[in-house]
Order: sequence, then structure tokens, then C-alpha cells
Amino acid sequence: FNVPVAVNEPIKSYAPGTDEREEVLEAYKELWNAETEVPLYINGEAVKTGDTARIRPPHDHNHNAGTYHRAGKKEVNDAINTALEARKAWADMPWEQRAGIFLKAAELVAGPYRARINAATMINQSKTIFQAEIDSACELVDFLRFNVEFMTEIYAEQPESTSGAWNRLEYRPLEGFVYCVSPFNFTAIAGNLPASAALMGNVCVWKPSDHQMLSAQVIAEVFEEAGVPAGVINMVNAEPVMMTDIVMSHADFAGVHFTGSTTVFKGLWSKIGENINTYKTYPRIVGETGGKDFIMAHKSAVPAQVATAIVRGAFEFQGQKCSAASRAYIPKSIWGEVEKLIRRDVESFKMGSPEDMSNFITAVIHEGSFDKLAKYIDAAKESDEAEVIIGGNYDKSKGWFVDPTVIVTDNPKYETMETELFGPVITIYIYEDDQFEETLKLVDETSEYALTGSIMAQDRYAISTATHALQNCAGNFYINDKCTGAVVGQQPFGGARASGTNDKAGSKLNLLRWVSPRMIKETF
Ligand code: ALA
Repeated sequence: FNVPVAVNEPIKSYAPGTDEREEVLEAYKELWNAETEVPLYINGEAVKTGDTARIRPPHDHNHNAGTYHRAGKKEVNDAINTALEARKAWADMPWEQRAGIFLKAAELVAGPYRARINAATMINQSKTIFQAEIDSACELVDFLRFNVEFMTEIYAEQPESTSGAWNRLEYRPLEGFVYCVSPFNFTAIAGNLPASAALMGNVCVWKPSDHQMLSAQVIAEVFEEAGVPAGVINMVNAEPVMMTDIVMSHADFAGVHFTGSTTVFKGLWSKIGENINTYKTYPRIVGETGGKDFIMAHKSAVPAQVATAIVRGAFEFQGQKCSAASRAYIPKSIWGEVEKLIRRDVESFKMGSPEDMSNFITAVIHEGSFDKLAKYIDAAKESDEAEVIIGGNYDKSKGWFVDPTVIVTDNPKYETMETELFGPVITIYIYEDDQFEETLKLVDETSEYALTGSIMAQDRYAISTATHALQNCAGNFYINDKCTGAVVGQQPFGGARASGTNDKAGSKLNLLRWVSPRMIKETF
């Protein structure tokens, strides 16, 4: 299979005086004042229902950045029907044509759409330019490029044949349509959930998050310009329960590609169970959900490395990553040095709006998230078992701003060691140096999740012991690195337990879920 060798899109610097900085600031200003109206995209048409909701930037929640239209039952049904109609031609289209479309989409994002998709992500999802660039430009481009390579790896896997019998696997798409439900926190994931299924010949009904509609619109436009035929990917935002009820009681529902909360995913799974006799085929259920990701340090760890892993793992992206570090276990002998370095870094951070590129941290996504974080921070301030040692302030007067916060506890099962907060808060348990192996057990037992985690140590015996003891605790396990920042094509991403079905986004393992192979044996 001759396809372009996929390469990771280089991250631009946005340094003062660069063209990219000027371009993105220009795009930001334009989009900020545009009062954009985001329609639904059904059968290649922009559909406006008149049932609209406001788009409000998290860092300035009184600003009106536009509206998005919401679907009613009719539009959800239209999206399903149009997808099924489009499937007839799309599923039979030569794979090279599908690949060409998504490779073109990659180049559109990397080039002409880059400034706008970054600006949309900065405004609607409150990401700094660096967070936006890594997500909505580079990671989205990487998914689109690497998926094509993964697809050809799958197609190349064929059984042996003999002279009298030709055995061949035909990698057909699923029979029906795929429901894609994407989160607010990654524009790249919003694009990849439908793109990966569609590349393999599937048709999609895609429901983006209410809090990501500006960048979802750019993705829909990119797909259209790249040549995704009408009806293949339909972008429909609607009240989730109504939409899910319609989608999941449809006989042609063939799978769900989900990234979001554990609770919602379990709800979808139950709904599929309730409707199992309705479907023509067993639906594929692929979900990437929550995390309570850890950094476990050994006394041999380099304190500066541990501090950096905590600061970057917990506070970059406002901690709004399923992979974000949110609990850490640090031995007493190095804690003093680690604490000093964390404090130094956090004190140097600036927090504020993304258009000021010197800000390292911006607002959390919405009032619900802000209130949840404030509640747990206040509880820690009141608790006998915990102490807020860094940060702990929050302010919602203009935007949903929460300070990077470090809680220290002497109870390894303290509630913020266990509960996913999805914000810039980490809880640290300090253990006696000689309790390393007992603490590894705590890491394993403390959380229902198993998404990401790190062991920080120079001692090879400690690394080996931890790697073995924590084998079920993290689908992405890091040695001497922070527990975030998996790169497409380098570290396939996903976890088990309550963190998901571990179908590794950014790898052929994910794309394999979107095929229903037919084995053909031909004799002569
Ligand atoms: N894939 C993202 C990371 O690893 C979520 O941080």
C-alpha cells in the first residue's frame, strides 16, 4: 500500500514577531466579534432550527461569542436516515479515495484553517495558544494522517493462501451507522471520533459537546472542503437524552465512539443493553472516559523531575485532561525539595485570557466545573485530613478561574485522592521512604480508574517493581515523565477499568473496531 509516510505535525512557536502569532491573534479578534451562528450539518446542508443556545467564552462568560442551533427529533432522524443513504456509496468507495479525502483534511487543518481552528478553541474552550496548537492543530492533523497509515496496516493483514484456495479478508465497514459523542476538552478528539470511523467506510452521526461548538463548526467545514460526501458525517447537537434515545433505539445503530465522562458512558452502555434485541448487529462500544491519574515517586527520583511532572501533568490545560495528574505519592526525604520547586513554578504562572499569550493557565470550562472545584477546595481547607498548601483561590466574576492548587493529605484515601475533579487541582500523599511497596498497593487500590500514571525513580529495581505492581493501573504508563501528552503515532492512548474500553486512540487497534471483516475463501 503506497500512502504518504505519516509525520507528526511540527508545533509552531507563536513567539513574538512571528507570522503565526499575528495570524492567530487576527483570527481570534475576528471570531470574538463575529457572533457566529453554528448550524447543524445534515446531508451536507447547514441546518438552522431556530432553537439556539449561546456560546460564552469560559474566560469572559458575559461575552456573546455567538449561538449554536440545536436539533429536535426530526433533525436527529434526518441525520440517521441521510447517513444510511450515504452509506451505500461510501462503503463501496475505493479506500484510496477515502484516504485522499482525509489526507486533504489534514493539510487543510495544518494550513489554511490552522489559525481559525486554534482561535475557535481558544475562545470557546479557553485554551492558551500553545494548548490549542498542540490539540486543534497538531493532534488533529496527526490523527488524520496516521489513521491512513493504520488503515493500510489493517488491510495488509491477510491469511495465507495455497495454490488451490485463495483466502482473503475483506475489511468491510459496520452494517449501519456509528454514533460519535465527543468532549469539550479536545478539538482533536472531536474530529477524530467521526474521522476514524468514516475512514474505514462507516457513516456517522456526530454529537459534539455544547462547549466546543465553534471548533466543531470548523471541523465540519474542513470535512466538507476536503470532500467528505454529503451524509457521511452529520454534525448534530441536541439535548443528549432525547438524541441518545432516538439513536440507540434504531435498528441500524452499529456502534458508539465515545469520549467523555464515565457516568455518561455507563448510561449509554445500559441503553444499548436495554435495546439489544432491536439491533441488526451487536454494536461496537468504544469509549474513553475518566481518570484519576497518578505520579508515584521513589526516594531515588530527581526532585526537579518530579516537580516538573506534577506541575505540567496537573496544571497544563487547566487540568482538564482525562490524563491529567491528580494524585501524587511522594517520599518524605525528597518532599521538601519537590514542594519548593512546585511553589516556585506555580508562583511564576500567569492566569488569564488566552489572547494574552503570556498566560500559562486560563479558565475552566463552565460554572458546573468551577463550582465542583470550589466545593472540593473549600472542603480541603476545612478538613482535618488535608491542607491546601498552594493556590486554593478562585474567582468567577469575569471567567471561571481556579488557581492551580496543591492539597496535601495524610489520608491516602482522602476524597480528592479518589474523585476525578477535572481541573487544576492535585492532591499529594507523603509517605515514609521505607513504605515504597505498601504505597504501590495504595496506588493500585485507591482509584476505580486506570488511564495514566508515572513512576519517577533512578533506581532500576524500584522502576521494575513499580512497573509490575502497577500493571493494571494505567493504560498509558510513564517512566520518569509526566503522565500526559501521548502523541499520535508514538503512544497509542487509552485505559481500562472505569477509564474506558482501552481501544487505543491513535493506533490501528482503534480502527480495527470500525470494521466487520468478511473472510472469503475462493477455490479453483
Ligand atoms: N492524549 C492526551 C494525553 O495524553 C489526552 O494527554
